[in-house]
Parts: sequence; C-alpha cells; structure tokens
Amino acid sequence: MEKKRKLEGQTAIVTGSSNGLGKAIAVELAAAGANVVINYNSDEEAAAETVNEIVSAGGKAFAFQANVGTEQDVKDMFDKCLSTYGFLDILVNNSGIQRDRAFHAMTLDEWNEVINTNLTGQFLCAREAVNIFLKQGLRGVSSAVGKIICISSVHDIIPWGGHANYAASKGGVMLLMKTLAQELAPKKIRVNSISPGAIQTDINKEAWETDEALNKLLQLIPYGRIGKPEDVGKQALWLASDDSDYVTGATHYIDGGMTLYPGFADNG
Ligand code: BGC
Repeated sequence: MEKKRKLEGQTAIVTGSSNGLGKAIAVELAAAGANVVINYNSDEEAAAETVNEIVSAGGKAFAFQANVGTEQDVKDMFDKCLSTYGFLDILVNNSGIQRDRAFHAMTLDEWNEVINTNLTGQFLCAREAVNIFLKQGLRGVSSAVGKIICISSVHDIIPWGGHANYAASKGGVMLLMKTLAQELAPKKIRVNSISPGAIQTDINKEAWETDEALNKLLQLIPYGRIGKPEDVGKQALWLASDDSDYVTGATHYIDGGMTLYPGFADNG
C-alpha cells in the first residue's frame, strides 16, 4: 500500500517564499502533499519560479503578493487562500528583512521597517490564521486544529551589534510565539519557532561570498559548515506534521551550534 504523505489534504501559507528559506520551506511542504500559497512582497518573477518548481513536481501552489506588515494585504491573502483551497492548516511566518546600521545612526524608518515586517507581520498573519483555525476546528487531516511556525533567528537570544532593530524584532517573535503557544494549546493549535543561524541565502551574502568572509563566519559555527535552506525546510516539515504533535512553544535552533558560545570552547 502506498504510504500517505505527511501533509496530504492540508493547506499552508508560507510568507516570503519567493526566495531563500521561505522557498525551501514551501517546496518541502508541497512535496509532503500540502497545497501552498507562495507569498511575496516584490519579487514576482521569483515567486512564479517557485510556483513552477512545485507544480512541475506534481504539487499545488499559487503566488500572492502581500506586504505582511499591511493589514488589508494580509486579510486579502488569507481570503484568497480560503477561496482557492477551502481551508488553512499551517502558517509559516517567514518574511524577514534586515536594515543594518550602527545604533547611534539608525533612523526611525530603519527601525520601523524591520519591526513592521519581522514582528508586526507575524502578528497580523498569526491572527488571521488563528481565527480561521478556530472556525474550522478539527477536520480530520491532522491531530491539531492548526499549526503556526514562526521563523525567528539565533538573534532572538544572541545580541547582535549593528542590528538592534533586527535583534529586537526577533526577541519579540520569541515571546510572541511562546505566548501564543500558551494561550492556544487548549484549542489544539501548536505554535513553535525555528531559529536559524547562518544559512546561505541572499540576506547574509556578505558573510559568505568571499573565502575570507566565510572563514570568519565559520569560526562562529562549531559544526564547521554554513547552513543550507533545506536544513530549515526539513525542520519546518517536521513541525507542520503530526510527527511533532506533542511539541508546542519550543524554539528550535538550526544553527550548527552557533548558540553554544563557541568562543568559550578553549577559553574563559
Ligand atoms: C541573519 C543572518 C545571519 C544569521 C547568523 C540571521 O538571522 O538574518 O544575516 O547570518 O542570523 O548571524
């Protein structure tokens, strides 16, 4: 008998999934049988490519433009998901940006832009998802009523000079996630974070594009390699599936040991 795929009959929205981590997550969920909404803010072409990749592999996906920090955009995206697929079972809050600057020179715009996308965006999307989950109830495709995966960062725990806006947004995501997990566990909604370390994507290109930069970066990673988007994709699939049914409110560091204070390995 053919084994049932882990997300068969389920629907997922993955924010910021035209590129990078979001794309790898969307591809992984689709391969496990989920219908996927590929959300993008500006890169329409890349979003179409992601959809193409999923559909040519036999999966279901469509692209939707929405700025996750804009309430109406978010509502429109969730409406479109329901009118297309009928249900929603999984939200992956992945959209994230960096606007790096020394603290004394950081502008209010740089602060607001990062908080708006990285933190307020997660609030707006989670609120829509939770309202849909509560209305749907258990529908026989998963042991949970709904699953939310917040993509955070090792910088929800590691302070990061020159990135106060980003670290503050991710620290906020951590307690948003834990509070939602606590509040919604009795409703059978599971909420978890993935906190990636250095994963090779466009957001941190400067940290790996030359040998010199990469060698410097590797000093921060005890496992001795930079992460691949698939490392995060696989963890997202686990958290979205019933394999992790007893897991809620947990931060999962996918970081090759970056959070292990490598500077103390032979020091201190
Ligand atoms: C940041 C990357 C950085 C990594 C590890 C991520 O959250 O977006 O730019 O390489 O953390 O420092």
